[in-house]
Amino acid sequence: MSESVTEKVTYPTIATLSEHEGETIILRGWLYNLRESGKLLFPIFRDGTGTIQGIVPKAAVAPEVFDRIKGLTLESSVIVTGKVRADSRAPSGFELDVQDLEIVQQVSAETPFPISLKEHGVDFLMEHRHLWVRTPRQSAILRVRATIMRAAAEYFDTNGFTRTDPPILTPNACEGTSELFEMDYFDDGKAYLTQSGQLYIEATALALGKVYSFGPTFRAEKSKTRRHLTEFWMIEPEVAYIELDGLMELAENFISHIVARVLEGHRADLKVIGRDVTKLETIKAPFPKISYDEAAAMLAEAFKEGKIENEFVYGNDFGSPDETYISSQFDRPVMVHRYPAAFKAFYMQPDPLDPTKALCVDVLAPEGYGEIIGGSQRIDSYDLLKSRIEEHHLPLDAFQWYLDLRRYGSVPHAGFGMGIERAVAWICGLDHVRETIPFARTLNRIYP
Ligand code: 4AD
Ligand code: MG
Repeated sequence: MSESVTEKVTYPTIATLSEHEGETIILRGWLYNLRESGKLLFPIFRDGTGTIQGIVPKAAVAPEVFDRIKGLTLESSVIVTGKVRADSRAPSGFELDVQDLEIVQQVSAETPFPISLKEHGVDFLMEHRHLWVRTPRQSAILRVRATIMRAAAEYFDTNGFTRTDPPILTPNACEGTSELFEMDYFDDGKAYLTQSGQLYIEATALALGKVYSFGPTFRAEKSKTRRHLTEFWMIEPEVAYIELDGLMELAENFISHIVARVLEGHRADLKVIGRDVTKLETIKAPFPKISYDEAAAMLAEAFKEGKIENEFVYGNDFGSPDETYISSQFDRPVMVHRYPAAFKAFYMQPDPLDPTKALCVDVLAPEGYGEIIGGSQRIDSYDLLKSRIEEHHLPLDAFQWYLDLRRYGSVPHAGFGMGIERAVAWICGLDHVRETIPFARTLNRIYP
């Protein structure tokens, strides 16, 4: 490898080339594509921040440089010297008049880069995910993901929350025992990968007031849907002394902030992804809020009018088609609150006006994306929580510490969790969550 790869020089990135118009610069990157037209070569380079087309007229460069470029294979790594020229026809607004090119590693013609510019099947692409991430659309999605994660944390960091990270290895379930990844834990028996940091941040919320956690969470989901991963990232705020209304307000401001940040910094990426940004520009708090009962009535009405195929049975949880219909009625996320307690988690506070309902909220993203946030007010009474743990056949011993939070200075408190991948899928307008995370883990995939 040549010395200049590690040499201490600063190189402008393709994303910042507008600041270098007319300058001769050095780009470090890869060959994304190569077209040839008579005595002209049109290599397209990428460097992780974008792509730029180079122009190489045979007469303008040394013969060995021309031959070197002509013989380049896709995804060979290269260091390119050239002059930045504005060109209104170029997607990035600039082209590069190539003067010199040095090969860092030439991809062998015998084993060409497996992902070509033609269409590939999803299985093939997922099998080559380690290489697929190099393509412009996938890179754009990962950049937007990074901004969504940063904006989400930033919202809490700048609004008085303290980040408290819960453990990943836990002695008990949070969200239902059928979806636990289990392992042996020395002499203590079993441990489980966390499904949610919630129970632990309830403890830190009672210590610090406003807290959040942000990390990977795991569900041994047997469901093979476009919305489910077995490993995903969740950001969860938890706040002492707020109730359901305060929680919904927090959620709508939080989502509005994230969408605003993405629009601020990623117009070009959203264009590469093919996202209709007008659908994002309307996402501003306040969001519509309807109860489970009102949502159920909407579904009954829609069924009567033949707008949905299956009749919704009152008392059940919404299925994907139900969520799709409900969310399609609004141009911003809709908050559905007060679901029947019967199918919700054991820790949810019952509604004092109708104890068969839980003081909970699901936020359904528009355009049929379904649930991106789930949250609730938590039971603050010791006796009620204890009986719920028993009714759900959860091991009381494992929950003694959690019950302590109701023994020592219990207060009304509430929180929610947002799955980052669901949010990325909605904001980028993607069909499936597998493209929203660098390496998706699903029911049938753990490679690469
Ligand atoms: O609705 P869920 O299960 O809620 C909780 O875990 C609460 N303990 C959170 C809290 O109140 N602190 O999950 C929350 C969110 C969902 O709305 C969804 O966005 C995401 O996590 N999620 C998944 N994302 C991808 N794949 C899965 N299998 C997911 N399960 C949940
Ligand atoms: Mg949920």
